[in-house]
Amino acid sequence: MSLPDRPRRLRMTPAMRRLVAETRLHRAELILPMFVREGLAEPAPVGSMPGVMQHSMDSFRAALNEAAAAGIGGVMLFGVPEKKDAIGSGATDEDGILNQATRVAVSEVGDALVVQTDLCLDEFTDHGHCGVLDATGRVDNDASLARYRDMALAQAAAGSALLGLSGMMDGQVAAVRDALDTAGFTDTALLGYAAKYASAFYGPFREAVDSSLTGDRKSYQQDPANRREGLREASIDLDEGADVIMVKPAMAYLDVLADVAAISTVPVWAYQVSGEYAMIEAAAANGWIDRERAIMESLIGIRRAGADAVLTYWAIEAAGAISR
Ligand code: PBG
Repeated sequence: MSLPDRPRRLRMTPAMRRLVAETRLHRAELILPMFVREGLAEPAPVGSMPGVMQHSMDSFRAALNEAAAAGIGGVMLFGVPEKKDAIGSGATDEDGILNQATRVAVSEVGDALVVQTDLCLDEFTDHGHCGVLDATGRVDNDASLARYRDMALAQAAAGSALLGLSGMMDGQVAAVRDALDTAGFTDTALLGYAAKYASAFYGPFREAVDSSLTGDRKSYQQDPANRREGLREASIDLDEGADVIMVKPAMAYLDVLADVAAISTVPVWAYQVSGEYAMIEAAAANGWIDRERAIMESLIGIRRAGADAVLTYWAIEAAGAISR
């Protein structure tokens, strides 16, 4: 039979498929989120994220060197403090756990990896919100920006190369840029969590950071129903001077990611969040899914939708799989 179109010709052999692949994943495009917990002598496994640890300082050093050896692009650091309070004092304390961990990471692997830090108060506040509260208990946008400014200065001073603004307060990119520039940190880059949705897929992360949150983040994170709003948030972050913007979570928001990638003038990243990790691990542990194939398919799907880089808890393993 004479068929003009036989797309299967390009699928016949592994060599042909490899040659015509439209999307590739490189190790340098993977960023590993890491948790460092104050006061730990030994690393503590995160139950809902098999293979992920809350690190002690020693296990953190070892994991950083493993990440550098794997050739990934960077690490995104989260701190879990021993003490929390209403304003998240540990976030701005130069000896707070995240700032300590940042100095360690910069000295261990600062040349090989882009050391990045989460700039958000939720790990440090006793109420667990990403900002500070007003007298009526609501998250106070502008008072939170003042805290973010101070947090940015502490993180930049600790050597973080890129600050991940994940709090979803309005004006956070502009506020932090201004604080950094005024203090002379003009080279510290900003990652705007442009489109960040109020997602059930953050569930395991809340265990990873011992979150104190009761209630939800729906007054500042976006409604999963809203696609256009993702573009609006991205445009605002671009206008405010974000060096990179992000869409989060990844898998349930690939449409938003594609929209944002189509208009962005800066790199667009996506965060494959804790629940995306946990789902594949749990299904694989039950023998219901081919673990490695599912991991690589999820990552290539995120790249294909438009992410230039991906934050993933599988960064080291995926880097190994890519190099094989
Ligand atoms: C906020 C923050 C969260 C995550 C990253 N940064 C939690 C939240 O918004 O509730 C979630 C990441 C994940 O689920 O892997 N500091």
